[in-house]
Amino acid sequence: MDIYQTLVSELGAAKVLRGEERLYAYSRDESPLGHHWPDAAVVCASAEEVALVLRLAAEHRVPVTPRGAGTGMTGGALPIAGGIVLSTEKMTRILEVNADDLVAVVEPGVILGQFQDEVEAQGMFYPPDPASLAMCSLGGNVAENAGGPRAFKYGVTREYIIGLDVALMGGERLRLGRRTAKGVTGYDLVGAFVGSEGTFGVTTEITVKLLPRPRGVATLLAVFPSISAAGAAVTEVIRRGYRPRALELMDKLAIDHVRPKAQYKFPPGAGAVAIVELDGDVEGLEAAVIRCAEACERAGAVDVLVAKDDAERRKLWQARRICSPSLREAHKHKVAEDICVPRGQIPEMLRRIERIAQRSELPVATFGHAGDGNLHVNFLCDEDKTNAAVTRRIDAALAALFEETIALKGTLSGEHGIGLTKQRFMPLEQSAALIDWQKRLKRLWDPQNLLNPGKIFP
Ligand code: MLT
Ligand code: ZN
Repeated sequence: MDIYQTLVSELGAAKVLRGEERLYAYSRDESPLGHHWPDAAVVCASAEEVALVLRLAAEHRVPVTPRGAGTGMTGGALPIAGGIVLSTEKMTRILEVNADDLVAVVEPGVILGQFQDEVEAQGMFYPPDPASLAMCSLGGNVAENAGGPRAFKYGVTREYIIGLDVALMGGERLRLGRRTAKGVTGYDLVGAFVGSEGTFGVTTEITVKLLPRPRGVATLLAVFPSISAAGAAVTEVIRRGYRPRALELMDKLAIDHVRPKAQYKFPPGAGAVAIVELDGDVEGLEAAVIRCAEACERAGAVDVLVAKDDAERRKLWQARRICSPSLREAHKHKVAEDICVPRGQIPEMLRRIERIAQRSELPVATFGHAGDGNLHVNFLCDEDKTNAAVTRRIDAALAALFEETIALKGTLSGEHGIGLTKQRFMPLEQSAALIDWQKRLKRLWDPQNLLNPGKIFP
């Protein structure tokens, strides 16, 4: 029997998907890299089933690509070596939400937005909020160390994952981490697995830290004549020590792309906007809002609008979250990056992005988590995809973007990971020795190089 027949006899045919039609959804993700076909997708319902797949795959030397909800943007879930896509999409149980411990335990297929609704209904709060929160899964968030706007105040996924159950290639299962608020027993392997892009092991259970839900939230939209004025406002807010939970920017091109589908109506003629969201006790919130509004005005805001209620706040975030899909729908090429520079370098990075756009003669839409120095820079183009000259122009613009980022002591990826799309730029940021040490670490967990092979490193 080959491995696929064995899997069918062990798990049943309904969990072992084969054939182009059934594999279509498992051959792609949200990267621009098109389809890569696995031989089968195995949809596991439990940690035991995950371990079984990893044991058989190791025995048969078949590559395995773990997959959450497939919302990744850098190709991390693409099965470039064929073999098996191991999906955890059916492992969707919220096993525990504990208000005394401020801890929740979930399976990896739980959808982030649903989880947040559940914990908020019980008076608690799980901050990480990538734009795909209505679709992405917590297992995928762990693999990519997902961020989002609220990372400005609350940090990224890694800050909230305190325990992981994982299955390793070969089928061994391990429990990593803890459930306590603190803990320094042994190495921080949870920290190492979070953000490892599914190359160390497959997550089968996640223990997360929760916070009490903030009682008050206020959101304001500051309108600027230009992106440079908006960038200056970001610096002003940070320099004054204000701590909104989100400090986002959108440039004119991004705003104009979302207008048709945005529930929020941006003021006509806005050259750029900053979205500033504050939270905390209700008392004191108004004063904090006024302080942030004044900081924006000092930097050149022509208008500052405060969302009047929850409904308006939701509309504003809907508009912000459709930046990426709106740009993608409108253009043949949308090459999106998520560079991150030290916070103080945001105005300088924005200037350099403008220069790259002029030199490359490509429209560039920039938006994102400016408070964290994390910008989504989107090179757009409507020439045919087969046009080699266009590809060369985009590649040159990308290389310039990463070179400028590194020159400012920044990093290639603030939140989307390296996957396939950015691996050729890794040597810009990391030494050959450091890349080699990381490859050694990978070999420790997966000596046969079968788990998500070909990802991260060039
Ligand atoms: C976002 O912040 O909207 C997401 O990270 C998606 C993107 O960068 O395109
Ligand atoms: Zn983002």
